[in-house]
Amino acid sequence: MVETFLHSPLTPFNVAQLAPAPASAMLRRTKNKTWGVAMQGRQRRSVLYMPGSNERALEKAKSLPADALIFDLEDAVAPDAKPLAREKVCDAVKSGGYGSREIVIRINALETPWGTKDLIGACEARPDAILVPKVAHPGDIITVAKMLQGLHAPDDISLWAMMETPMAILNARAIAATAVYAENRLCCLVMGTNDLLKESRARALHNRFAVVPWLATAIVAARAYYLDILDGVYNDFSNECGLREECEHGRTLGMDGKTLIHPSQISPCNEVFSPTQEEVDWARKIIAAFRQPENAKKGVIVVEGRMVERLHLGMAERTVYIAESIHEMEAASA
Ligand code: COA
Ligand code: MG
Repeated sequence: MVETFLHSPLTPFNVAQLAPAPASAMLRRTKNKTWGVAMQGRQRRSVLYMPGSNERALEKAKSLPADALIFDLEDAVAPDAKPLAREKVCDAVKSGGYGSREIVIRINALETPWGTKDLIGACEARPDAILVPKVAHPGDIITVAKMLQGLHAPDDISLWAMMETPMAILNARAIAATAVYAENRLCCLVMGTNDLLKESRARALHNRFAVVPWLATAIVAARAYYLDILDGVYNDFSNECGLREECEHGRTLGMDGKTLIHPSQISPCNEVFSPTQEEVDWARKIIAAFRQPENAKKGVIVVEGRMVERLHLGMAERTVYIAESIHEMEAASA
């Protein structure tokens, strides 16, 4: 049955799906439309790739403070090692031990000799999400979602999309728009900046001058459809100062977190993507000010000499929510 399904023709993406999301469909995936999927309880500040063929890394990850782990079957695994890596990854995910860390398996593209078997194996292993590489068109997400449906995958397996080709950037809105329908399972975009640099022939210099337009395009697509979005990796893993700068850069652009390649990158990244004490204090002041009876019906107030609108209240509540959920997560894993 699975084989028959896998070889059936693909459903073409209907451009009409780019229309604004029907509220009922979108709300199935997003509890709070203003806050987005991240507000369903998961922080994705630090997301560590691990080569699926590296048993030591898979074991070590059980004690690393990353919010999420990507068990990679794709770029980090040599062709000859792929079948064994799939076995190792699926066994590791099934046997667990990763606590509250979000577990993601990156499969090979379906067009490769390994993609379909990766998807079947991942579906059986039941990670939190499957990361689809080299997404170029909305149909790439829809196809994987339909295959998961054919495999009777549990509803709680999400899809993440790698945005790593020029076509993905051109189609960012259409790809993100697949999230309108819950059956497409999309909840997160992941920037693949190394691939984008290669494909575009740009240079990775000057505060990512060439990369910023791609990041910004994908960020607005993610925000328009209430998805999370993660920045690309920083290759120079022994340079903590450079990593911090790039994390700050990503956070300033609006990223929810960053993908990482080495354990040493996790703590600095968590730090940068957590609200600072100053941000939390300011957020609490805004919340307290709007709770004053005299401000209950006001749209705009003044706090410490600054104009504060109700939209700032929404931002303040989000900041406090994130800070509290990080605190709870850290207390639970201490
Ligand atoms: N996840 C978990 N553990 C990792 C890790 C990772 N991504 N990278 C390294 N480690 C572990 C090592 O196993 C080693 O553990 P040990 O000291 O307990 O034995 C420790 O961290 C130190 O590793 P180190 O010697 O500094 O790194 P390395 O030279 O062996 O490897 C890389 C460097 C870049 C090859 C390796 O970090 C890596 O493979 N990263 C992920 C690459 C990837 O997945 N790329 C695809 C997406 S871009
Ligand atoms: Mg790639």
